[in-house]
Amino acid sequence: MTTVCEYKPGLEGIPVAQSSISYVDGQKGILEYRGIRIEELAAKSTFLETAYLLIWGNLPTKEELDNFENEIRYHRRIKYRIRDMMKCFPETGHPMDALQASAAALGLFYSKRALDNPDYIREAVVRLLAKIPTMVAAFKLMRKGNDPVQPNDDLDYAANFLYMLNERKPDPLAAKVLDICLTLHAEHTMNASTFSAMVTASTLTDPYAVVASAVGTLAGPLHGGANEEVIDMLEEIGSIENVRSYIDDCLKYKKKIMGFGHRVYKVKDPRATILQDLAEQMFEKFGHDKYYDIALELERVVEEKLGHRGIYANVDFYSGLVYRKLEIPTDLFTPIFAIARVAGWLAHWKEQLAENRIFRPTQIYTGFHDEPYIEITER
Ligand code: CMC
Repeated sequence: MTTVCEYKPGLEGIPVAQSSISYVDGQKGILEYRGIRIEELAAKSTFLETAYLLIWGNLPTKEELDNFENEIRYHRRIKYRIRDMMKCFPETGHPMDALQASAAALGLFYSKRALDNPDYIREAVVRLLAKIPTMVAAFKLMRKGNDPVQPNDDLDYAANFLYMLNERKPDPLAAKVLDICLTLHAEHTMNASTFSAMVTASTLTDPYAVVASAVGTLAGPLHGGANEEVIDMLEEIGSIENVRSYIDDCLKYKKKIMGFGHRVYKVKDPRATILQDLAEQMFEKFGHDKYYDIALELERVVEEKLGHRGIYANVDFYSGLVYRKLEIPTDLFTPIFAIARVAGWLAHWKEQLAENRIFRPTQIYTGFHDEPYIEITER
């Protein structure tokens, strides 16, 4: 029997999986990972503990967490062949493209594909979580002709990433703030990059290909790439006085205002609220950023004009302002999103493998039938 389904562009509202990893209530502005509110995890957990929770489904004991952190610490280094490959990437290339290529290259070096072996699964999880930040930081330095900084085993996950990136030990508040940012971005139910990871996973390919395909999907401006565009937009607006006319022009010419709107949230994204608070903590310690004043006015006017349509600030609106204070270049904002989201992608990869069926949707054909072939001389 054939069931005729309604075609929904963008699969809006169509469930593509059953999942117990995370939950969003877009009307109430609630996000939970494995049932725990994001506010609680941001306040009490760490990124690696949260990654463990997402991937294995429960909070680790102290011993489990210590082992997980130590394994990741041990695997942070990347092979010199991967570094040499990255050295050949053009310095003008986008770091997301560099990351996608490098993530895929990991599959060349760790090619065993034992998807029914829990040790292989754990090893792949550890390697990806450990090496992706090292690759992002390495490309940042190598594109300027500098040698990458080796990971520092005395530093925890976020602090080590900032150390490799900025070539000095970070301030503890900066490291803590980045760790919370990673927790906030670690997972977000069914979205474009996670779906892409799951489709790739469903073919039973290796996890490096799964992550590489998700990185490619995250790169687009309607998904992870929006955080970079928010900063470009704030710079273009330039002053509080220009905010209203900028928004009026966007509405007149049907141009999206970056960092606003969400397929699921119809209120302010709870992650935007936490990120705004983190931005304020950073400004208090490291100095104000005039673009924050522009952002506040922008949020106020967008709410006034578009709030009734459920368009509010999303996760990307304040993250860029935090990253600027962490001295992170704008084109690394999306790779940092990827570093965090690797946890969510791997959780979905593991869940997909547990009950795998290859994705093979259908289509509604709108083309011709029985057309004649016209000889090239007669076209
Ligand atoms: N600025 C102005 N109008 C907007 C915006 C916005 N940011 N977002 C949605 N709208 C309008 C849109 O023009 C459309 O109006 P109309 O019905 O008159 O044509 C209506 O709202 C529905 O928009 P849509 O694009 O069909 O909604 P969607 O659910 O498919 O899109 C979205 C969600 C995130 C792609 C969209 O809101 C958007 O493009 N926002 C800007 C980019 C952005 O901030 N992306 C980050 C998303 S959150 C993190 C992530 O997913 O990675």
